[in-house]
Amino acid sequence: MNNLIEKLYEKRNLNDNEFFEILKSTTYDNNLRLLANKKRLEIYDNFVYIRGLIEISNYCKNNCFYCGIRSSNKNVDRYHLNKTDILKCCHEGYKLGFRTFVLQGGEDVFYTDEILIDIISEIRNNFMDCAITLSLGERTYESYKKLYQAGANRYLLRHETANSLHYNQLHPKNMKLSNRQEALFNLKKIGFQVGSGMMVGSPYQRLEYIVEDLRFLQKLQPDMIGIGPYLTHKDTPFKNFENGDMNLTLKLISILRLMFPYSLIPSTTALGTIHPKGRELGLQAGGNVVMPNLSPSNVRSKYELYNNKVYSGSEAAESIAKLKKVVHDAGYEIIVARGDVKKSR
Ligand code: 5AD
Repeated sequence: MNNLIEKLYEKRNLNDNEFFEILKSTTYDNNLRLLANKKRLEIYDNFVYIRGLIEISNYCKNNCFYCGIRSSNKNVDRYHLNKTDILKCCHEGYKLGFRTFVLQGGEDVFYTDEILIDIISEIRNNFMDCAITLSLGERTYESYKKLYQAGANRYLLRHETANSLHYNQLHPKNMKLSNRQEALFNLKKIGFQVGSGMMVGSPYQRLEYIVEDLRFLQKLQPDMIGIGPYLTHKDTPFKNFENGDMNLTLKLISILRLMFPYSLIPSTTALGTIHPKGRELGLQAGGNVVMPNLSPSNVRSKYELYNNKVYSGSEAAESIAKLKKVVHDAGYEIIVARGDVKKSR
């Protein structure tokens, strides 16, 4: 095992069988964690970048089998934020030290290009020193281009799984792996810093598929990679499936850090949900980003992709001081910066 880990550290790559070997062992090797952390310190020091997450809408036209805000879930109290609401979140976030705002939501037809351009331009004019990240699902090349021209810099769109059989097991028939991958390459072509990723332990996932995920990410060369454990939601067809495994998630964060040393890897909310120390463990595994919630408090509980999402405590923007301490105690420091990807490769 140690040989494989050293090889991954040196070469940033392994063959399929070797990746499989690391993934299948039930333990999370301490040496893997230490080398991933060493790589992260080498490139990003002990800095942790914060992104203010603004959950702008829980309307979604899609009906993904794993997701709590799927269109057919009648138990969701739907909302979307308007420009004034969103700008208010940004102002509050700026005062708290955020220099990246992430506008995330379901695929909500309310947000036409025109409406989004208006919102993005306004944020751009008010916060010249901030990055604007969008996470609004699949749109056309032309639409992405307009949003980029309006001032958006980054886009998060997880590929979810790189295996087409698995993709079809997670999504209804009208959603296609090829469309998702094409959207990602379009975003890159336009000039966005692009983030992708997958859930760990989603229903029907096999370790072989995770190796395919790693290969897809090598092809895409994303700037950001978001992964978190699959977490069950009671109002989905997958309600009887178990949550994903935390150790496998941490192991993958370390593998990704070694494969993509320059990438920005968040320690996700899903990790913080599955384990009280999940956030810290994600940072120690190689993560260098956290994304606290900046959404207005009255909508926070409505944006529920999975059950038991953490709403309060260090998750709330108001307790950013607490988050700073948690991050500090884990050995890292939150800094006030846009935190763009460092390119060298
Ligand atoms: N558990 C964990 N992650 C989920 N996501 C959606 N539903 C769940 C769930 N039940 C993730 C998807 C999506 C991102 C915004 O949240 O990967 O891309």
